[in-house]
Amino acid sequence: MDSPTTFALYGIGAAAAAALVVKLKARLELSRAKHRSLAGHARLARRVAAVVPYYEYGPTEFFCSDDAPQDLVARRRAGFARLTDLYRTRFPRTAALTAQVKEAISDLQFTEAYRVPFQYGRFVREHLPVGAFVASSSGVTLTDLDGNRFYDLTGSYGVNLLGNDFYKECLEAGLTQARELGPVLGPYHPVIAENVRRLREISGLDEVSFHMSGTEAVMQAVRLARYHTGRRRVVRFCGAYHGWWGDVQPGIGNPLPARDTYTLKEMSEETLHVLRTRRDIACVLVNPLQALHPNAGPPADSSLVDAGHNARFDRAAYADWLTRLRVVCSERNIVLIFDEIFVGFRIAAGGAQEYFGVKADIVTYGKTLGGGLPIGVVCGRKDLMKRFRDDRPADVCFARGTFNSHPYVMTAMHEFLTALGRQDVRALYHGLDERWNGRADSLNRRLGDENLPVRVANLSSIWTICYAAPSRYNWMFQYYLRAEGLALSWIGTGRLIFSLNYGEADFAAVADRFVAAARGMRHDGWFWTPADATNKSIRRRILREMIVHRLFPHFQTSP
Ligand SMILES: Cc1ncc(COP(=O)(O)O)c(C=O)c1O
Repeated sequence: MDSPTTFALYGIGAAAAAALVVKLKARLELSRAKHRSLAGHARLARRVAAVVPYYEYGPTEFFCSDDAPQDLVARRRAGFARLTDLYRTRFPRTAALTAQVKEAISDLQFTEAYRVPFQYGRFVREHLPVGAFVASSSGVTLTDLDGNRFYDLTGSYGVNLLGNDFYKECLEAGLTQARELGPVLGPYHPVIAENVRRLREISGLDEVSFHMSGTEAVMQAVRLARYHTGRRRVVRFCGAYHGWWGDVQPGIGNPLPARDTYTLKEMSEETLHVLRTRRDIACVLVNPLQALHPNAGPPADSSLVDAGHNARFDRAAYADWLTRLRVVCSERNIVLIFDEIFVGFRIAAGGAQEYFGVKADIVTYGKTLGGGLPIGVVCGRKDLMKRFRDDRPADVCFARGTFNSHPYVMTAMHEFLTALGRQDVRALYHGLDERWNGRADSLNRRLGDENLPVRVANLSSIWTICYAAPSRYNWMFQYYLRAEGLALSWIGTGRLIFSLNYGEADFAAVADRFVAAARGMRHDGWFWTPADATNKSIRRRILREMIVHRLFPHFQTSP
């Protein structure tokens, strides 16, 4: 007969087994809520990145890495030589100063290195150097050191919402208003009272805190969510950017594992299930820009090895997703954070909350809100913003910063917020989507009419370029666009950002240049693809190349 001790041991064993089953089930559910791509598996992505070997195409293979026939290679060579000549004669001073400072500016070395897929990088940098300097801005244009005027599609990383001249005025007026106080920190400049009033009104939230950058604002939002919920885990969505702080950048780029971050699929039932069932989640971070390309990373040209950039914005579907997310977060006391650092003020005066009709618990703003100066802002519910506990005075949630609430930033911000109430600025928001969708549609029609394998997709004034031909050379398009006088940011054709002061004539000029650039690409043979090529077959081929170079590091790709 079994003794009571044996029964007790059976009981403990059964309880342990049951606990293990529950844990395994939760782990499995978490895995199911991850996106299948590498971007959905941060740790694996880092491991894969660590073994990708460097190799490069020499002057021969550069033009025929897709086995193009000889006549086409000759066309590419001729087109490339023409472009090289154009870059050399048109941008000499800008290129010379860039070359002079490059060795001493690590950020510049980084952006230079990641403009195109790495195999082509050295050759293209040698022959098509992109200048890092501009001398002036006016209207919707930028002028470089050689006097070339470009239409500005960089949008200053999204800061430039209302046109560079507008921010020059904000800075001037802000400077005048802050002059008496100067750079005094600690005590506030009185405009802060008005800024706070307006931010509360815009966000519909109770309290505000000021920071120096968007990254810092997100850090503080997440820290507050953890403090108040007593939970550790942060949910972010696959592909979404929230600044460069470790916990929100769990994959490639961060040398440390972000153990408390779950990167889950956006617009997914499995994700909702995880949120509904786990007890360790403090907050969900949403970057509404992802509505343009859910679950995919920022579409940089450095990863444009084929025609794999896909984007399509569906406002109703994304609004529905946010609504369902809101319900689950409310049910589970999970803090819903909208990171509106990019889209705030851009897609609607009231940002993503207004645009999608969903309220967040905390909203972060930045970029354009600083009126041209660095800024990060957190707006949140009163109970979530509090940094100490009345009943436990030693348990605080610390967040200060020397330059937070800088008088010059506050006065420039004040100019920006005041302008939002002006008739002419308010008018920009009327029919905003219709205007930008109409412009995207008309450009796409022109491209379609000429059978050019390029299209644009947009979320209001934020655009991305998609390619229909699975060519290995789609990234070359950025150099044709620059040659036509269109200024792009370092991620190239992945992100075009228009300021809202683009009038019809300016936009028509951009569209003409865009079409001319696409014609140039086709004329010079870069859109060509072998008859049976697909994005998949291209990627397989690149994988084979990588394996060979990994196994035989001294293998010469081309003479
Ligand atoms: C959505 C979002 N969050 C956070 C950040 C980080 O802001 P900052 O570059 O000011 O640190 C960015 C910057 O692009 C962003 O787009």
